[in-house]
Amino acid sequence: MVKVIAIYGSPRRNGNTAILLREAVRGAREEGVDIEEVVLRDHEISPCMEIYGCIEDGRCAIEDDFQRVRDLLLRSDGLMLASPVFFYSVSAHTKAFMDRFQSLWVKKYWIDRVPFGKGVIKRKGLFLSVGATKGAKLFDGILLTIKYFFDVLDMELSRTLLFRGLDFEGDAQRHSEYLEEAHQAGREFARELLAWKGH
Ligand SMILES: Cc1cc2nc3c(=O)[nH]c(=O)nc-3n(C[C@H](O)[C@H](O)[C@H](O)COP(=O)(O)O)c2cc1C
Repeated sequence: MVKVIAIYGSPRRNGNTAILLREAVRGAREEGVDIEEVVLRDHEISPCMEIYGCIEDGRCAIEDDFQRVRDLLLRSDGLMLASPVFFYSVSAHTKAFMDRFQSLWVKKYWIDRVPFGKGVIKRKGLFLSVGATKGAKLFDGILLTIKYFFDVLDMELSRTLLFRGLDFEGDAQRHSEYLEEAHQAGREFARELLAWKGH
């Protein structure tokens, strides 16, 4: 069974990223992948405290809900991650979660001494984001963050879904074309994962 973890990074449970990610998850499920959904705001995940308690074995020393979600992610074949644009980056919930993977960065690059850019791809990712404005550079910052986060996870960025001009709760529901795009992308992402895993 192909395993996917879907991570909701917005503080709003029914905000625009949540509605659109749910559509992508629905599409992926239709193709038969197994998806566990995680809402970051429901988890206690401290920011990285930069104590480098991970230096010996690459395990983050802060004990909270991070470990469970990290283990789910590391056991998965795919990640579907959604965050709104907050000041041209990801939401604080998403960023705190990402920063805790510095422990994995330490493991990969300091302990195991993997040469930069030479990791083997172990999973594939879909990233979804929305912003209120419509500028050409709206997702530039966030995509750079995602690129390096996915690298730590030995994950290829297979698919990005970026939606402009969505601000208030309910805005996404008014764009049936966006909902359909997310649904289709979820299906295609699942099909890509299934083919990649030989199903
Ligand atoms: C703290 C904060 C910062 C934001 N920064 C930006 C921004 O830099 N650019 C932008 O276009 N929208 C920005 N927005 C608007 C959100 O991206 C927008 O409302 C989005 O639809 C929220 O997604 P959600 O409903 O999934 O939470 C910001 C909103 C908040 C609350």
